[in-house]
Amino acid sequence: MRLLIMGAPGAGKGTQASRIAARYDIPAISTGSIFRDNLANGTELGLKVKAIMDAGELVSDEITDAIVADRLDQDDAAHGWLLDGYPRNLHQVSALDEVLDETGTTIDAVLSLLVDEDAVVERLLKRAEIEGRSDDNEATIRNRMQVYAAETEPLLETYRDRGLLVEVDGMGQVDDVTEAIVEALDDFLAED
Ligand code: AP5
Ligand code: MG
Repeated sequence: MRLLIMGAPGAGKGTQASRIAARYDIPAISTGSIFRDNLANGTELGLKVKAIMDAGELVSDEITDAIVADRLDQDDAAHGWLLDGYPRNLHQVSALDEVLDETGTTIDAVLSLLVDEDAVVERLLKRAEIEGRSDDNEATIRNRMQVYAAETEPLLETYRDRGLLVEVDGMGQVDDVTEAIVEALDDFLAED
């Protein structure tokens, strides 16, 4: 099973990705988490991306595409994966298409979490108090939202045109959203 999960910052991508990935026994791969691990470990990559992430801008395609291609090439991803936070612009869509072409594989579905922007800003401000993620401050959250709207949201139409988009209401309780995703995904996969 090869899946993407998309949605605005704070939509619940990471929360739902780990649950859905566990259900299908595939790795959940988050580019944001990969970058944050590098930041935490003070790697060269971490140092390179820190200012960009703190501003809520996108890390370059060159860096991001290479990281994803490398990660998808690892053994645990041979039979499937769930990508969270990638692709984020049209260039990354093409880069992922190339990886898929090279391996003769395809995406099975693209999950889209539909959320209310004000409510998810609240979620992120709450998380800031608990976890202290350095991009969870009001100015950066606002910019992340703008970057999402300008660069990433249009990709939903790209995947809709390909007949892959599965939209789910992301505003309920975490368990209810998981249940809605599983139901929508099972329905969608049964259509084929
Ligand atoms: P990334 O890590 O992808 O962050 P994001 O898209 O801004 O989204 P978040 O991780 O903040 O939210 P989420 O949707 O995962 O929600 P979550 O489950 O955490 O990217 C960070 C940065 O990395 C980017 O700005 C960029 O700089 C760089 N980057 C990453 N990918 C890149 C790429 N492809 N190209 C270039 N740069 C890239 O939930 C949020 C909070 O809400 C949590 O506290 C959670 O507990 C809570 N919550 C979740 N669900 C619910 C619910 N149903 N009800 C109530 N609370 C909930
Ligand atoms: Mg996340």
